[in-house]
Amino acid sequence: MSIHNNKKLFSLILPQQNKTAMQIREYILKNESLEVHICNYGGIIKNIYTRDCDWKPVDIVLGFDDPEQYRSPGYLNAYPCLGATIGRYANRIHRGEIALNGQNFSLEKNDHGNCLHSGSTGFDRQYWEGEQIDDHHLILRYTSNDGEGGFPGKLEVTVQYILVNNTLKITYDATTDRDTFVNITHHPYFNLNPEQETIAGLELQLYSNRLLETNPELIPTGNILTADTDHTFHFPKRLSGIIEKSGLDDCYLFPDLGSIQLMAELSSPQTGILLTILSDYPGLQVYTGKFLQVENGKQGKHYGPFSGIALEAQMFPDSPHHPSFPSTLLRPGEKYHHTTIYSLNCFSKEETDDIW
Ligand code: GAL
Repeated sequence: MSIHNNKKLFSLILPQQNKTAMQIREYILKNESLEVHICNYGGIIKNIYTRDCDWKPVDIVLGFDDPEQYRSPGYLNAYPCLGATIGRYANRIHRGEIALNGQNFSLEKNDHGNCLHSGSTGFDRQYWEGEQIDDHHLILRYTSNDGEGGFPGKLEVTVQYILVNNTLKITYDATTDRDTFVNITHHPYFNLNPEQETIAGLELQLYSNRLLETNPELIPTGNILTADTDHTFHFPKRLSGIIEKSGLDDCYLFPDLGSIQLMAELSSPQTGILLTILSDYPGLQVYTGKFLQVENGKQGKHYGPFSGIALEAQMFPDSPHHPSFPSTLLRPGEKYHHTTIYSLNCFSKEETDDIW
């Protein structure tokens, strides 16, 4: 695993409207098992190095070598949110409209007339205040002002990244001064065998067989479906099959327990890397990256369709319009607190041929 200084500094003079030179900082967390790079811009998880079964370090997330690339206009054009923190409201809100206490609020309509990932002023494009406690612990803070992206209420947000042995734990905390809706997640795309251009050879297991029914714009209808054969991942199942049928972009449901539960396991029979995702969120958006189209990724790679899978623990999409969904309303005096854990292990390479 490469040795880095704990903080890298990159500077850029931004366009006229912002006279201050903004800087992208890259923080590095590391221990004997993991090395994770995080940018203050967007709270982006830029690298996760883990060990494969030959003890070789492997970077398992899509992204760029140079942090400046995350804010280049070309990339933002067909923007897939590589690695970013998503908020104030992750996923979709129907027609980009919300109502609270008799008042209507208009959000950015950036996805077929709906609001996706809070639009162009989402947390993914903001500069966060970083405080690195030690090699294992980074705190990022951001104040989202009243009215930002159309949302009511000034929201104080803290995201913490903590390495413990072979796990990366992320906690999300927020408070508001006015009623608002909150749903914060991260958007890393994983490829546990980056020598392969697509995730077709990876195996996915989901600890849920229930998912939200959505319309063609991926807005929930309110119905809950039991997974059909294509959407069933109750056992480790190679992704090649579903990718041939245009992939997954679905929110799987978990009991709203308020405590950490096992959501998903992703593994590569080739590298032996096994990623386990646990969270206290009730939803996991599984997106196999059908629309990925990114030039000049790490080592000059082109990331095309299905080159990574996003596994985003979160509240349900469009909850403000569905009283039956777990509530995403945050009121003054209340504390928003959620935790997601990425655990990394490796197992012996399969000697046998493909069994699926
Ligand atoms: C995912 C979403 C996809 C796509 C992606 C960003 O969270 O489920 O539909 O919008 O973000 O490109």
